[in-house]
Amino acid sequence: ITVAIVFGGRSAEHEVSLQSAQNVIRSLDPEQFTPVLIGIDRDGRWFLNEESIQLFHADNPKDISLNVSSPQVGLIPNGPERQLVRMDNKEVLGKIDVLFPVLHGPYGEDGAIQGLAKMANLPCVGADVTASAIGMDKDIMKRLLRDAGIHNAEFTTLYHWQNEWNVDAIEAQYGYPVFVKPSNMGSSIGVSRANNKETLIQAITNAFQYDQKVLVERAVEGRELEVSILGNDKVMASCVGEIITRDKFYSYESKYIDADATELKIPAGISANQTARIQATAIQVYQLLGCSGLARVDMFLTPDDTIFINEINTLPGFTNISMYPKLWEHSGISQQTLVTQLIALAIE
Ligand code: DAL
Ligand code: MG
Repeated sequence: ITVAIVFGGRSAEHEVSLQSAQNVIRSLDPEQFTPVLIGIDRDGRWFLNEESIQLFHADNPKDISLNVSSPQVGLIPNGPERQLVRMDNKEVLGKIDVLFPVLHGPYGEDGAIQGLAKMANLPCVGADVTASAIGMDKDIMKRLLRDAGIHNAEFTTLYHWQNEWNVDAIEAQYGYPVFVKPSNMGSSIGVSRANNKETLIQAITNAFQYDQKVLVERAVEGRELEVSILGNDKVMASCVGEIITRDKFYSYESKYIDADATELKIPAGISANQTARIQATAIQVYQLLGCSGLARVDMFLTPDDTIFINEINTLPGFTNISMYPKLWEHSGISQQTLVTQLIALAIE
């Protein structure tokens, strides 16, 4: 089975995608899968196979973790695809059996590449066009959750076409702190916590650099928990993991840069009853939003034991420190088995 791994991309999560992709490539069972690598640079140019690997080095010149001559990766220097390095070469595209987008954020997690796959009649790992788009857009996702009576932080949506923001009304409604987020983004990029009017205005201005829609959310106090979901119609939930961060919130910095800032506790120290409720809620969210393949559902458990959904990620981080694969590993599914199952779910 030939699997096209698509990575990099135009979103601000480009760097995270590079890390996720290397991990997915390493986890492909060489007995079953032949990888075709499609790398997209920050400007949106596409590169195939050995040309695409340059992207890993461009962003992370010290990274030697991807061994380009490893037979497991099958990276072709001497392989049959050697001469098929141009995207306009129909021979290589015609050989692809399934697309595995390892892209995070807009242009990859948002339905864009899922639509391309659909048009090309190519099975694609993960959520379909609609569920991807909904999962990427926190404004729309939260409205659907609210409609279904699933708790999530109260929020106000701001639009780029508004001439001014009614900061006083936001202040009066939520008090401080509030969280300000681009509606469509991931890895906490563009997210800030505001404590007063001045930082709120700064936070909104900053968030609008990433999206045309910005959310201001009431802060939810609680433990930060995550669950991995796997499946199409028949869905499984992993054990629950907890994020313990000494930063003010689980920022990009504490996710990927300052390894000491955050501890991932797997499994979370919660009761069996809480675990079961959290898993059931995560599955409810997954099904409500129409997901397939995989997703990671992120939430808060408040001191009065209420579950607040923070968000869903339809192409969650797959780096070697990421929750999605780690939760499955702890639940007894190795990364290689996980990747095999994800591809099988796309093809079924
Ligand atoms: N958006 C990042 C990749 C995550 O959710 O893990
Ligand atoms: Mg996200």
